[in-house]
Amino acid sequence: DEGGRLIIAIDGPSGAGKSTLAKRLAKELGFIYVDTGAMYRALALKVLREGVDLADDASMARLIGSTTIDLRHVDGALQVLLDGADVAAEIRTPQVSQMASKASALGVVRARLLELQRDMARRGSIVAEGRDIGTVVFPQAEVKIFLQASAAERARRRFAELQGAGQSVDLTETLREIEERDKRDSERDLAPLRQADDALMIDSSSFDADQVT
Ligand code: DC
Repeated sequence: DEGGRLIIAIDGPSGAGKSTLAKRLAKELGFIYVDTGAMYRALALKVLREGVDLADDASMARLIGSTTIDLRHVDGALQVLLDGADVAAEIRTPQVSQMASKASALGVVRARLLELQRDMARRGSIVAEGRDIGTVVFPQAEVKIFLQASAAERARRRFAELQGAGQSVDLTETLREIEERDKRDSERDLAPLRQADDALMIDSSSFDADQVT
């Protein structure tokens, strides 16, 4: 852009390896890592905590208007600040994943987070990952990558990640949840998961993180 800042956009379904790739690129290049999924997850956590009904437009508008979400990098770790408190650990549960996917179909939610995401790109060069980064948030991004992997491989990765975090999970259930979420994220009307025409597609199914990077 006019400030000499660059944008790398990484989109794809859950478990394709977006976060791993985005973190590595950000570290190597000295760019800011913007995990947009974490922002949808933070808002979803608040929806769950307050017990707000997604179909209740007035309550949702009130909730969004009274919520602050920010990403901070402290000593190499990503902090996800929801109303000033770090919720990075709490947002990585299957329950929050599903609520984030549902809430992200709403126009009021997307409009607010889009604004915050564009603000972040004013802080410096960024690597942003999500579902609509190359298509909607930053269509002008200098580099666009669409990361894919088979559903079975993505479920295996997500399963290992949840298990590693000490959560009790089931592989079949993880696969079912991933497929349900991808279907919803791809079929919604607003900013669905889609490969931008000018994105480079990488299938990470049989590559490790080093090879993809
Ligand atoms: O990448 P993730 O699994 O942390 O994202 C959680 C949910 O948030 C995902 O199911 C859909 C939604 N999301 C979105 O709609 N747009 C984005 N740019 C990022 C995430």
